[in-house]
Amino acid sequence: MNSKENKAKIVAIANQKGGVGKTLFTRLLAHYLAEVKHRKVLVIDFDSQAHSTIRILPDWAERGGSPRDTSDMISGRRPLAETITKGHEYGGGGRIDLVVSSNLLADEETATAYAAPGKGLALRDVLYEADDVLESYDVVLIDNGPGPMLQRLSIAAADAILVPMEPTEESRLSTEAINADMRRIAKRYNAGPCVIGYVINRYDPTSHRMAHLYELTASDLGKQGFILGPIRRRGAYENWPDGAPMSSVKWPAEVRREINLTLEAICDRIEQSPHQEAKFASSDSKIDELLAGG
Ligand SMILES: Nc1ncnc2c1ncn2[C@@H]1O[C@H](COP(=O)(O)OP(=O)(O)OP(=O)(O)O)[C@@H](O)[C@H]1O
Ligand SMILES: [Mg+2]
Repeated sequence: MNSKENKAKIVAIANQKGGVGKTLFTRLLAHYLAEVKHRKVLVIDFDSQAHSTIRILPDWAERGGSPRDTSDMISGRRPLAETITKGHEYGGGGRIDLVVSSNLLADEETATAYAAPGKGLALRDVLYEADDVLESYDVVLIDNGPGPMLQRLSIAAADAILVPMEPTEESRLSTEAINADMRRIAKRYNAGPCVIGYVINRYDPTSHRMAHLYELTASDLGKQGFILGPIRRRGAYENWPDGAPMSSVKWPAEVRREINLTLEAICDRIEQSPHQEAKFASSDSKIDELLAGG
């Protein structure tokens, strides 16, 4: 086994609240890492809605992609290497591959809800046992869907966690929930998955209410994490054609400047965050207790 330094950093993009920008940031980060930083990126679409799959690799089936998806990976029916679909290649060795998702992942999510023995560490086991795969990539990005079940698995597996959120009261509440989850998981199962940042998304500087909530969020999180952004609501992000490279999209200069600053800061933090030390062996049942609310 090679040293951990040769292995990909595992980054979970997480927030239990739906629609805050998890998939947008997964996509932005995957493309920035591959196209600008020439990194090898594996995206795991850990959402049965399959939004990352649709956005990043809409033609995966025509590419002769593997018929395997995240449900095969997480159930252990196939080793990770056999579930990867080759995606986009860029200059300088940068690339984006994908473990595509489908509605079948919902069955695995249901099984996780019942905390079948061993399920709790399923994703961590899959990744930790796939040395060959982790050594072939620089970064693994896990795009989570809304809801806590699969997200907890990804937090237990991650070296680093990125939390997109909005300056709204609902988003503040769901961010508190995910912080509580992370603290519990960190205490019991990892040396501590490192939160590398909270990205404030869909910010509107003309809204007084939003400015107030932004201040509140910044002071909440000031004690325990980093604020990144803010990123404004921009039609430009909506107009990024599925499957297209980021460099091909004609974004206004201020959009590109805003997003590049934030993405560069995220990349730095991914690089600086340490690989996690697992506290427990995969045979340990304690995470199952956690998933069951213990
Ligand atoms: N700053 C922004 N400006 C404009 N549109 C945005 C912005 N952020 C996100 N969106 C759009 O809002 C929608 C929801 O974002 P996204 O799918 O990334 O959220 P999500 O957190 O992944 O949602 P889910 O919880 O369902 O997975 C998408 O259509 C996305 O393109
Ligand atoms: Mg999503």
